[in-house]
Amino acid sequence: MSKRPRPLVAGNWKMNGSLAGARDLAKAAAELAGRTRTEIALCPPFPLLAPVAAILSGTAAQLGAQDCHAQDKGAYTGDVAAPLLREIGCRYVILGHSERRAQHRESDPEVRAKVAAAWRAGLGAIICVGETESERELGRTRARLALQVQESLPDGANPANTVIAYEPVWAIGSGRTPRPEEVSELHAFLRAALVARIGPEADSVRILYGGSVKADNARALMGVPEVDGALVGGASLDAKAFSAIAEACRET
Ligand code: 13P
Repeated sequence: MSKRPRPLVAGNWKMNGSLAGARDLAKAAAELAGRTRTEIALCPPFPLLAPVAAILSGTAAQLGAQDCHAQDKGAYTGDVAAPLLREIGCRYVILGHSERRAQHRESDPEVRAKVAAAWRAGLGAIICVGETESERELGRTRARLALQVQESLPDGANPANTVIAYEPVWAIGSGRTPRPEEVSELHAFLRAALVARIGPEADSVRILYGGSVKADNARALMGVPEVDGALVGGASLDAKAFSAIAEACRET
C-alpha cells in the first residue's frame, strides 16, 4: 500500500445535541484539532451548524452537515441546499447514511444526485455504504458494497471531494462491531471497488469505518491499516471519547 492519506474522524451527532452542549463540544473539537494530526470534523444538526461554525472558524476543526438536497435551490420545504451549507462554513456533508436510506427511502441514484450537488457547491461528500444484518447473513455483503460504490458515486470522484464511510447497518448504535480482520478485508474490498470505479486516484480516497466506534474499541478498529479514520455517532457526543478515538488513529 502506498502512503496513506491523513485520517479523518467525523462526529455525526444525528438528531442530538443542544445549543449549550454544542458550544462545549465545538470548543473541545477545536482544541483537539489543534493537537492531533488527524483531521477532525463535527456534523451537528442543521440549526446548530451556524453556532458551531462560529466556534470552529479559524481553528483546524472542520464542519459538516448530515444531508443536503440534490437541487441547488427551489421549492423544497424543509430541505437544505448545498450552496447554503457551504456559505455558512461547511466543508463536508454526510450523504447516503443508512438511517436516511432506511427512514427516507433514499436510493443509490438519489444519493448520487446529492453527491453531485455537494460537489457543485464545493463540499466534500462523506458517502456512507454498508450491508444490513440480513444481507450479511445471506453472504451478500460484498455485492451490496460493490453496488453502492458503483451507483452512489457520480463520475469525477477524487480524494479531495470524496470520503467513503463503511458503516455496517447492524453495527450502528448496537454496540456490536465486525472483527478487525473483517474490517480489514472489507475496506480492502471497498478500495478495489473504488479503484475499478474511479481509477488509481482511489488509493488516496479515505475510507472511514463507522458503527459503534467507542473509546475502548478505537485502538483495535483504527489500528487496521486499511482504515483511514472513523465516522462516529453516539461517542461523538462525549468530548473525551471523541478525543480518544481521534488519538487512536495512525500518525501521518
Ligand atoms: P454509532 O457510533 O452511534 O454506532 O453511529 C454510527 C453512525 O451511524 C455514524 O454515522
